[in-house]
Amino acid sequence: MRKLICWLGALFFSYIAISQKTISQKVDSVLALMTLGEKVGQLNQYSGDWISTGPITPEGDKQDQVRRGQLGSMLNIMGVRHTRLLQEMAMQSRLKIPLLFGQDVIHGFKTTFPIPLAEAASWDLEAIERSARIAAIEASASGIHWTFAPMVDIGRDPRWGRVMEGAGEDPYLGSLIARARVRGFQGKGLGDLESLMACAKHFAAYGAAIGGRDYNMVDMSDRMLWEVYLPPFKAAAEEGVATFMNAFNDLNGIPATGSHYLQRDILKGDWKFKGFVVSDWGSIGEMIPHGYAKDSYQAAEIAIKAGSDMDMESRSYKGHLAQLVKEGKVPVSLVDDAVKRILTKKFELGLFDDPYRFSNAEREKRALNNPAHVKAAREMAAKSIVLLKNEKGYLPLSKETKKIAFIGPLVKEVKQNLGFWSIEMPDDSSYIISQWQGMVNKLGNESRLIYAKGCGIEDTSRAGFAEAIAVAQSADVVIMSVGERRDMSGEAKSRSRLHIPGVQEELIKAIHATGKPLIVMINAGRPLVFEWTAENVPTILYTWWLGSEAGNAIADVLFGDYNPSAKLPMTFPRNEGQIPIFYSHFNTGRPAPDDKSKNYRSAYMDLSIHPKYEFGYGLSYTSFRYDNLLLNKKTMEENETIEVSFTLTNTGRYAGEEVVQLYLRDRVGSVVRPVKELRDFKKVKLEPGKSAVVKFIINKEKLSFYNSKLEWICEPGEFDLMIGASSADIRLRSEFQLE
Ligand code: BGC
Repeated sequence: MRKLICWLGALFFSYIAISQKTISQKVDSVLALMTLGEKVGQLNQYSGDWISTGPITPEGDKQDQVRRGQLGSMLNIMGVRHTRLLQEMAMQSRLKIPLLFGQDVIHGFKTTFPIPLAEAASWDLEAIERSARIAAIEASASGIHWTFAPMVDIGRDPRWGRVMEGAGEDPYLGSLIARARVRGFQGKGLGDLESLMACAKHFAAYGAAIGGRDYNMVDMSDRMLWEVYLPPFKAAAEEGVATFMNAFNDLNGIPATGSHYLQRDILKGDWKFKGFVVSDWGSIGEMIPHGYAKDSYQAAEIAIKAGSDMDMESRSYKGHLAQLVKEGKVPVSLVDDAVKRILTKKFELGLFDDPYRFSNAEREKRALNNPAHVKAAREMAAKSIVLLKNEKGYLPLSKETKKIAFIGPLVKEVKQNLGFWSIEMPDDSSYIISQWQGMVNKLGNESRLIYAKGCGIEDTSRAGFAEAIAVAQSADVVIMSVGERRDMSGEAKSRSRLHIPGVQEELIKAIHATGKPLIVMINAGRPLVFEWTAENVPTILYTWWLGSEAGNAIADVLFGDYNPSAKLPMTFPRNEGQIPIFYSHFNTGRPAPDDKSKNYRSAYMDLSIHPKYEFGYGLSYTSFRYDNLLLNKKTMEENETIEVSFTLTNTGRYAGEEVVQLYLRDRVGSVVRPVKELRDFKKVKLEPGKSAVVKFIINKEKLSFYNSKLEWICEPGEFDLMIGASSADIRLRSEFQLE
């Protein structure tokens, strides 16, 4: 039997080797036929033109270029009708090289899933993978080959609006989520009809834009880069991500797009990445205002030498690359390498065999109307909601509640629920479930619901307060839905003040003053600052932007059909003055042990150093006890492991899931180590009264870090082990030694 398995394995691998070889031979044979102009064309990507209800086929010059084989790829073209039309134009070109269609499929396609930061709060890797899978099934059926996702930038500054697109602040959680998303998008692998090429972006360190201002400069140590910002990229590369996108920012003075170090030394060198790198939108040309290139001629030279393979929309390659080669400034081998990388992906996708294989209208219709996708989106949305407070046990609501007031500017909004990077279906929003509709669906009709808007999202007017107060007074319980507009967190949506916009928090105060049981739901794409609400309102749910099933998922959580299990993937500051704030900081030489002992300590005179809500925090309708911590030994050598186990018990009245988190601290190192680092977690489901033994394995990998020479090593010494329900709520502690 074993022999048979070995033989089949060998056969399988030689099959892979042969098919790979065939692709590379095919690529070479196409390359041999190409003129320099056609080669440069492959490195060129344009956006489609848009009309208000969606994309249209690009006009004039762009069409011509497609017909002349001067374009490798387009973005913002969707739908089988449009993509087929363009592909037909590409088939009129001399060599009939098919186009690649890319799109920002960031959190779902038609079926819109929660924004990525919200999904990260689920800590549910299978659900996150499923979400990306469904997005891929729908988008690929709609003619798309390639998504510009996942964004794997670490986000530690909530002023930066793009934190909504990532997985939060932690490199360990971020790396696992990066892998899950790559697996989800790419599915069975390129060539399968339901797979998209994924794209790890923005390489690198875009999340560290100074001041949280989008596109801003980044200045960071090697330690931060390697330990915090690069790991999710490395994980994506290891998971086989097809493409990378570089970044708008400079890193220590070199624009990422022109960085040989990032793209050639690290990515294509150390990490042996075989896919291709696309520039961010116009980022090759942006090296001019950066002050790194004097014109687009020089920008093109820098970018191709640095390893940027495809030029998204800056047109520098189109304008100058051929000339640069002719003048001997750029060796043609660099152009060839970039072209080969792109053609390889086109072959792997099967586009040379059939350029229309993603152009089946029947399949498109089926994929975009699949009830199983809707169900998964509802589940994912419920898993993403974070219960921040339930002090008086108002939640879950009884389905018998007689009168429910539903107040706030977001209650009846429809498209707001989709979040920033959503893809809207033209002329149809009936598939989006508003928060109001979700409540109506749950209760059967509107008879027990009363509504007041109270105020607009950014209003300064309090004119609606009186009506809202009257509505609250006539109800048994009040639910408020407040927050940002969905386009306040996203690209170019940096904010310096993170309060709930307008007079919404004043409205909360006014409703709170009625004395009615109050539940506040906060919708946003980032951690907001809401100190008064956090202190005074007994019940708070953080509902982010949950997608097309938002209303149903929220109602599921409000009435206890889903017991919240999400945990914050990002620290919530008390106010903007604490930013950047993250749990895995160094101790400093003068740690402030608590808010009282601040004098000549690393603290603020006028503010606690502790966050409002810490990384990993989130409540459930039930409660959990952690006990019986056991380590099978207290010392290990590098090649050994320690098994850690403990008992988790559901001590409350509801079935529920707990995300148990394992943190480690290396007490003394050749470089200082963080006060704690997430090194493992598990999401465990338990019926009331039931217990489970949870196990973790400590191995060398979990104890390793980059030393001062940036070597990945572990050092003998003592480690603290902490297991808890959040990064601050540590329930069990022990220690062990690496010998
Ligand atoms: C963003 C990318 C995005 C691209 C294409 C850029 O502005 O930074 O993340 O993929 O546009 O839409």
